[in-house]
Amino acid sequence: MSQHARIVILTGAGVSAESGLATFRAHDGLWEQHRIEDVATPEGFVRNPQLVQNFYNQRRAQLSSVVPNQAHQALARLQREWPGDVMLVTQNVDDLHERGGSPQVIHMHGELLKARCVESGQVVAWLNDITAETRCACCKPAAILRPHIVWFGEIPLHMEHIYTALGQADLFISIGTSGNVYPAAGFVAEARRHGALTVEFNLEPSEQRSLFQQANYGPAGETLPGWVDRLLKEPTKW
Ligand code: APR
Repeated sequence: MSQHARIVILTGAGVSAESGLATFRAHDGLWEQHRIEDVATPEGFVRNPQLVQNFYNQRRAQLSSVVPNQAHQALARLQREWPGDVMLVTQNVDDLHERGGSPQVIHMHGELLKARCVESGQVVAWLNDITAETRCACCKPAAILRPHIVWFGEIPLHMEHIYTALGQADLFISIGTSGNVYPAAGFVAEARRHGALTVEFNLEPSEQRSLFQQANYGPAGETLPGWVDRLLKEPTKW
């Protein structure tokens, strides 16, 4: 039994903001520019698949022009150097945690750099655009591919694994999420219910602010690195 704290980390769009990726609910956020029902629901995909593909093609293409920031790198350091268990769960679909050095990332809302066959459900790595003509390689006749993204109304990925970790967590750290979208917004309550210390890093207090016992407000690229360094220096005094 490790005597070191078991840590669960949850990130949201705010952790990638300083890398230049748009968040969702800011004044210039993605949901100010696009209707969720048009680009992030199964019904929207049936209604106008090319509009949905274009939305994700643009976001996928943007990844090649952004780099991880100090918040991604601090979390990767924590995962690599912490003597106990660490689970990193992200709501983000970008690959910046991986490129920032994180050895393990659980994408509960899917990944931009993967595509999914609508018939077989098979998931494949995918770097380029998906168009109306793009077909899978797993079915006969070939079926269409969709972005490997969890849309509103669909079930997030890896939930059993995540809830098991939340039930055992000693320390729950939330970074860069507004706490608006469940089930992720309920993770802090779940961790707290099992006795975890809960810490929020956000630009401003999130919807779940009252459930965090500690809070560090400001850009995560500025607030997180020093906090992680202090934690790593004294791993039994968290
Ligand atoms: N550092 C820390 N926090 C930041 C920064 C930053 N540099 N910039 C923005 N934030 C905070 C904002 O204050 C906001 O609370 O990040 C949060 C981003 O909130 P949202 O835009 O709502 O994004 P998120 O919480 O990740 O959304 C959750 O909603 O639409 C769905 O699937 C989508 O995964 C997404 C989910």
